[in-house]
Amino acid sequence: MTGARMFGMLARLAIGGWAASAIVMPAGAAPATPAEMARNSKVGSLVNPYAAGEAAHDPALAAEGYTLYSNFGCPGCHGGGGGGGMCPPITTGVWIYGDADETLFRLVALGSVELQKQGFSRRGFRHVVGPMPSYGSTITNPDDLWKIVAWIKIQTYNNAKDREH
Ligand code: HEC
Repeated sequence: MTGARMFGMLARLAIGGWAASAIVMPAGAAPATPAEMARNSKVGSLVNPYAAGEAAHDPALAAEGYTLYSNFGCPGCHGGGGGGGMCPPITTGVWIYGDADETLFRLVALGSVELQKQGFSRRGFRHVVGPMPSYGSTITNPDDLWKIVAWIKIQTYNNAKDREH
């Protein structure tokens, strides 16, 4: 395929929306970081590719997400198990901005200040202790962030189950 034809094809795909153009990227273009995804997509359009594993509470997926959570320094504020430290717990099932995977992805990618600019508001369940920093350029692979989100949800489920016993 010639470059011009390829370009025409990509341009037509781009008209179909951000999602289509993101899937067919020109060769050599860097994939979008979580921050770019959260900034350049409409609220409601981001889908967790690990939703099925999350819904099944897949322990292998949770373990991967937990390793990433630890490696990216989240425990410094939220505690080793996500049960809170100097910042709010993230695995108790009380959600400041809601529990949708997309909301959590946007929150971690953008930080709480920019998230609020996208129209999300605090529900006031917790005291404001400070802003959640933006991690969407530190975590460069969106899959890593989706896996962290999956771990948060699976750990929340497991904690709730433990409380029932
Ligand atoms: C410097 C401290 C700090 C670090 C590091 C940090 N956070 Fe946060 N996080 C916060 C604060 C503060 C809030 C609450 C924001 C608010 O009230 O608006 C928060 C909120 C959250 C929430 C929402 C919790 C709820 O109940 O709805 C999630 C999820 C979250 N953080 C995940 C992460 C992840 C994942 C990482 C690592 C990539 C991380 N955080 C790193 C400070 C931090």
